[in-house]
Amino acid sequence: MQRVFSGVQPSGDFHLGNYIGAFRQWVADQESHEAFYCVVDLHALTEEIDPAYLRQKTFEAARNLLAVGLDPEVSTIFVQSQVPEHPRLTWLLECTATMGELRRMTQFKAKGEGRGQEGVRVGVFAYPVLMAADILLYQANRVPVGDDQRQHLELARELAQRFNNRYGELFVVPEAAVPAVGARVMDLQHPGRKMSKSVESPLGTIAMLDDPGEIERKVKKAVTDTDGEMRYTPEEKPGLANLLALLAVATGRKPDEVANHYTRYGDLKRDLAEALVEMLRPVRERAAALGAEPGRVEEVLRAGAERAHSIASVTYARAAEAVGLLG
Ligand code: AMP
Ligand code: TRP
Repeated sequence: MQRVFSGVQPSGDFHLGNYIGAFRQWVADQESHEAFYCVVDLHALTEEIDPAYLRQKTFEAARNLLAVGLDPEVSTIFVQSQVPEHPRLTWLLECTATMGELRRMTQFKAKGEGRGQEGVRVGVFAYPVLMAADILLYQANRVPVGDDQRQHLELARELAQRFNNRYGELFVVPEAAVPAVGARVMDLQHPGRKMSKSVESPLGTIAMLDDPGEIERKVKKAVTDTDGEMRYTPEEKPGLANLLALLAVATGRKPDEVANHYTRYGDLKRDLAEALVEMLRPVRERAAALGAEPGRVEEVLRAGAERAHSIASVTYARAAEAVGLLG
């Protein structure tokens, strides 16, 4: 069976972008692949984060991965820092990657904007290498991610190939799996930027566990445009296109089809709010049920780390030996 691997940072509340860009694919892929899904707490350390908050969010992230419909009997769900091979393989890959490659990463460039790169943490710079290690340790064939991770996946492929060329065929070269629609869910208030955990835009971000009233309020207030023309043109009408894409995903249609179906923005928003509430209802219900049994999440993570470690340790040992470490 082919392997699938993906990860999410526990740095805030999961949102609609995570659900549509990533988690829906994760759930679908667990049926057809041997699946590994990781809460990447080491990645969350690249930004200033309160220790108690990180601990709480890591636990909550794992619970919410169960809530989206991942089955721990089928998928391995674990926390990155509990498998020590992640930072160990990162070092070997850091000795494979170049400054030039990492400097080109959009996420790194964005962090350096304004305040300059002098003050950017080394962790931010090296972040994509840790991500490559995550993937390569499990010999993953497929990596379901949103559009913002494409460039990081390219790097992971490049590092795998370079390592293989130098030391022999050690790593599977992974492929990104980016959904055709919904790979970049935009902020409802600022449709020029992606919906995200870190941005201060409570009204523009629909949290995965928002209650129906909140979802409705945020959709109703979503920024569109004033010409009132119902067309799916993301460049020209980013706010409207985002709403059309969301309704398309939630109802299994194409954005153009959805556009043809409506004439008024108000009607579109009403139906979108309803569709999102329905789409997220089972997730909200499962999260609430899991809240009542915290021991279950701990148990899932313990078993997950053990299983992940059994795979990662084999890959790491082979890589370490290949480069000449005594092991
Ligand atoms: P992160 O929240 O940055 O850890 O991202 C976890 C996953 O969600 C990654 O696969 C991202 O590509 C995906 N993702 C994050 N934000 C969005 C968004 N606004 N639209 C689509 N996918 C997203
Ligand atoms: N960098 C990803 C993000 O911010 C999270 C991530 C870490 C990841 N390691 C990964 C995603 C491995 C896919 C595979 O969204």
